[in-house]
Amino acid sequence: MHFPEYRARRTRRTPILRNMVRETRLSVDDLIYPLFCVEGADVCHPIGSMPGVCQLSIDRLVAEAREVWQLGIPAVILFGIPDRKDALGSAGTSDDGIIPRAVRALKQVLPELIVVTDVCMCEYTDHGHCGVVRGQDVLNDPTLELLSRQAVAHARAGVDIVAPSDMMDGRVAAIRRALDTEGFDQIPIMSYAVKYASAFYGPFREAAESAPQFGDRRSYQMDPANRREALREARLDVHENADFLMVKPAMAYLDILRDLREAFDLPLVAYNVSGEFAMLKAAAQRGWIDHDRVMLELLTAMKRAGADLIITYHAKEAAGLLRQDH
Ligand code: PBG
Ligand code: ZN
Repeated sequence: MHFPEYRARRTRRTPILRNMVRETRLSVDDLIYPLFCVEGADVCHPIGSMPGVCQLSIDRLVAEAREVWQLGIPAVILFGIPDRKDALGSAGTSDDGIIPRAVRALKQVLPELIVVTDVCMCEYTDHGHCGVVRGQDVLNDPTLELLSRQAVAHARAGVDIVAPSDMMDGRVAAIRRALDTEGFDQIPIMSYAVKYASAFYGPFREAAESAPQFGDRRSYQMDPANRREALREARLDVHENADFLMVKPAMAYLDILRDLREAFDLPLVAYNVSGEFAMLKAAAQRGWIDHDRVMLELLTAMKRAGADLIITYHAKEAAGLLRQDH
């Protein structure tokens, strides 16, 4: 190929031509919408740093999920905020906790909507860490037992997929064994396999009321500087029979998504996290960037990097735009 016989611009001339040679397509089928569930009735409590996102009581959550389903979005991921927190996060392992009740309500009204639940202790513990704490330490093996019980409680309520986000070693295997023992061998595990200790989670911690009360999560979440370690983490989860792999956050970790896409053949999920959402909202509110174009560009970039699915607070907005296109 040489200029002037070859001219790259020839296939960019018209919208139809550009559409024909487009390599990456964002579809509503790729999207998973996060929902935050609180106790009470008729509650819709807005999150200041996440415009358009609210903590919802179960009744309002069901109404929101109906809207999500009508937009063509196939799945939601649930985060629970209990009324009471304690050292062992006991509200998180109970069969009538906020998430099992939300799952039952959703599956009753929208049986086909895929309901994913985040499995972690930080929303339920008074110290805000993702596991059992002794002194300043987050204990790995005792946490596996609690995570397994939480996953089984979600399974009994009818969840479609469980998504452990705690970053304890061995948790995929522990949860798999617990689910299988209880007869839930058809429930897939979507592992937050590669989760970095990121400052991009700030707004989420306001939404989920899950900020650690001391220290940080660097002893269990990954160092943002590490790339080879991401492959190692993912390989461990593959060996533990994870069904999906996730990379989180997304925007600053597109290289990691590409690495996982090339190294493994499992469905790959990108988590477009709260801080990424908040940055775009803030810049757009000031009129500094075009919200919708930047949003679609970012989501497309995550797919181009290798993601099959994207968990995003933009799912409803993106679904609306993608629909207008056709
Ligand atoms: C809980 C969890 C977090 C997120 C998803 N699950 C926060 C954290 O690890 O502190 C972050 C999601 C987001 O920022 O949108 N372990
Ligand atoms: Zn956690």
